[in-house]
Amino acid sequence: MKGPQGKSGHRDDSSERAARDRIRDLTKKPAPKRNPRPDSFDRPALRVFTTTLWEYPSQHYGPSGRVQGDPTYVGATPSWIIWQLLRRYTKEKDLVIDPMCGSGTTLDVARDLGRRPLGYDLAPSRADIFRADARKLPLEDGKADFVFVDPPYSTHVDYSDDPRCIGKLSVGGEDGGRAYYEAMTRVIGEMHRVLRPGGHAGLYVSDSFEKSKATGGRTGFMPIGLDLFSIMREKFEPVDVVCVVRHNAKLAQGNWHKAAEEGNFFLRGFNYLFIVRKSAAKALPAAAEKPAR
Ligand SMILES: C[S@@+](CC[C@H](N)C(=O)[O-])C[C@H]1O[C@@H](n2cnc3c(N)ncnc32)[C@H](O)[C@@H]1O
Repeated sequence: MKGPQGKSGHRDDSSERAARDRIRDLTKKPAPKRNPRPDSFDRPALRVFTTTLWEYPSQHYGPSGRVQGDPTYVGATPSWIIWQLLRRYTKEKDLVIDPMCGSGTTLDVARDLGRRPLGYDLAPSRADIFRADARKLPLEDGKADFVFVDPPYSTHVDYSDDPRCIGKLSVGGEDGGRAYYEAMTRVIGEMHRVLRPGGHAGLYVSDSFEKSKATGGRTGFMPIGLDLFSIMREKFEPVDVVCVVRHNAKLAQGNWHKAAEEGNFFLRGFNYLFIVRKSAAKALPAAAEKPAR
């Protein structure tokens, strides 16, 4: 896995060597971004989609070989999903926030479209991502025009060693996923706080299926998507629910399909994209207490 941990975990105690490395870093040209899995076809032009079923044959848009974010980052969001959202719900110069920015896909798409991006992550993978916990963002209330988030869905990916990583909280754990949902309630609360009234947000998520051994004997299906949507509805107005077809290369390998048939379970074929809006109406001030007679 190439995650933030692999990129930043190195520490050298020798100050001389550190200085030499620093000079070399400052003088060397940045390596051109390489796509380890270049598309072997011309990507179709991206148009604004008009139905709630979304599918695109590549993780990235634009000329073949061009990428947004880091294609080697496990768990990166398909960039065209963010493109669709920003085309519909933002305009040029709008401030776009991603509180769990990962490889920076949202930043690259936002810049492509002339929006102003701001990305946070517990384990920043590049210099333009700020280190912050998505449960406590260093941003004033109501500043953002749009918020996009693709959070960890249970414990499938090891994003970093940071104990605060929400990807360490199992939805199928002994606590029945309580810690995960509490953490995500706080993330969704922060998304709502930093968004301007009338602004939109998108949350991209998958349900999960874990074999019963991993879930301590409980049922293997965990409806994370619908659970998170009901948490979002406590704060936001629903705008729409989109079904995004998954093109998971891993599924094409191995005996996954055979196992699903024999074990009588389903492989995840789609992700949810929940689109919500912060109410434009100002919250009413709390009713003043009646004076005692
Ligand atoms: C699915 S990845 C995001 C992928 C990203 N959209 C991209 O395209 O690369 C989830 C991210 O959430 C981050 N994360 C987990 N817990 C966090 C927290 N409490 N605060 C901020 N980021 C967190 C992880 O470090 C990881 O980068």
